Amino acid sequence: MITLALSKGRIFDETLPLLAAAGIEVLEDPEKSRKLILPTNRADVRVVLVRASDVPTYVQFGGADMGVAGNDVLIEHGGHGLYQPLDLQIAKCHVSVAVQDGFDYAYAVRQGARLRVATKYTAIARDFFAQKGVHVDLVKLYGSMELAPLIGMADAIVDLVSTGNTLRANHLVEVERIMEISSQLVVNQAALRLKQAQLRPLIDVFAKASVKPE
Ligand code: ATP
Ligand code: PRP
Ligand code: MG
Repeated sequence: MITLALSKGRIFDETLPLLAAAGIEVLEDPEKSRKLILPTNRADVRVVLVRASDVPTYVQFGGADMGVAGNDVLIEHGGHGLYQPLDLQIAKCHVSVAVQDGFDYAYAVRQGARLRVATKYTAIARDFFAQKGVHVDLVKLYGSMELAPLIGMADAIVDLVSTGNTLRANHLVEVERIMEISSQLVVNQAALRLKQAQLRPLIDVFAKASVKPE
C-alpha cells in the first residue's frame, strides 16, 4: 500500500491532475466527505487528508509514504527525514514582507528601528531579518496575519502573496519579496528504499506531468 498525504483545498485540487497522469483517481471528494482516508481506483494507493503544515510530519514519521507540501511549510518544518525529489510547480506564490499603506518601512529599516513582525513563518522571517541585520520581535500567529498591522499589533507581516488581493483588501503593501514558493513532492526516506518498485514509477510520472511549458 502507498499512502499519499495531501491537504484539502488548493494542494489537493492541484495534485489531482498529476495523479490522473499516473492513472490514479481519488474516489471521494474531500469537500463533501468527512473521511480522512480516501480510497483511489488503485487498491494499492490511498490518500490521507492532513493540515498543510502537518504533511511533512506525517511523511517524516511514516504515517504517509509521500506527500505534497509548499516549500514555505518545508522550511518551517526543517525537512528532517524527507527526500524531496521534485518541484511540482503547483500552488505557486511568494513569501513577502508587507506593511500598512503609509508606513515608511525603508525609513524604519534605515533608522535601525526595532520592528514588530507578525507571522506564521517564524523561521523564514527570523533568517531573513537576521541576514538584513534588522532587529525584529516576532509575533507568532496561525492565520489572518493581515489583521495584525491594521489593529496596531505589528509594524509588518511576513505572509504568502499570490494575486495581492488580500493585501489590497486590507490596505497593506508589499515592501520586500523574500522567496518564491511552490509545492514539492516529499517522500519518506525509508519508504523510498523499501517501496522503490512502486514509488519510483509514480515519481517519474509526476516529474513529466509537472513540467509546464513557459
Ligand atoms: P491551514 O488552513 O491548515 O492553516 P493553509 O492555509 O496553509 O493551512 P492552504 O491555504 O491550502 O493551507 O495552503 C497550502 C500551501 O499552498 C501553502 O503552504 C503554500 O505553499 C500554498 N499557498 C497558500 N496560499 C496560496 C495562494 N494564495 N496562492 C498559491 N499558493 C498558495
Ligand atoms: C492565502 C495566504 C494569503 C492569501 C494570499 O490565504 O494566507 O492570505 O492566500 O493570496 P492573494 O495574494 O491571492 O490574495 P488563503 O486563501 O489560503 O486563506 P487562509 O487564510 O484560509 O489560509
Ligand atoms: Mg491558506
